[in-house]
Amino acid sequence: MGASASSRVSLTVNGTRRTVTVDNRTSLLDLLREHLDLTGSKKGCNAGACGACTVLVDGQRVNSCLTLAVRLEGAEVTTIEGLAHGDELHPLQQAFIDEDAFQCGYCTPGQILSGVGCIQEGHTNSPEEIREWMSGNICRCGCYVKIVRAVEQTAARK
Ligand code: FES
Ligand code: FES
Repeated sequence: MGASASSRVSLTVNGTRRTVTVDNRTSLLDLLREHLDLTGSKKGCNAGACGACTVLVDGQRVNSCLTLAVRLEGAEVTTIEGLAHGDELHPLQQAFIDEDAFQCGYCTPGQILSGVGCIQEGHTNSPEEIREWMSGNICRCGCYVKIVRAVEQTAARK
């Protein structure tokens, strides 16, 4: 008998404990989208190059397409679905609306989670610094100026 091809993993997603049995090769992105019906995290390249799948794991931003789900036993995951408090949007979500920082919106969940991480890390001292630390998040619609502005304004309000 070979090693088991699937494993059980328990993790907390947006404050709720979830236990799932997944193929050992399942990415966190597929766990979220295919097993938990949390489709806010987007699949762009599925190869770590676009940032559309960015979520927070234990407060750190990660590309969920490159993160194996079975390695996340006990982890705390935050996705775009978990950022708002009821009807009250997270300040960065509101700033994206106020600044009109999206067009098609496909990159937006990843941009926002990455922006939350960028602000928590303190890499927001200048537009240049924000651009550098958000450079893993690609926007095909070219909304970068407004995205940086939204992150900058949210960081300034902290
Ligand atoms: S889908 Fe994960 S980095 Fe592109
Ligand atoms: S808003 Fe379209 S890819 Fe960024």
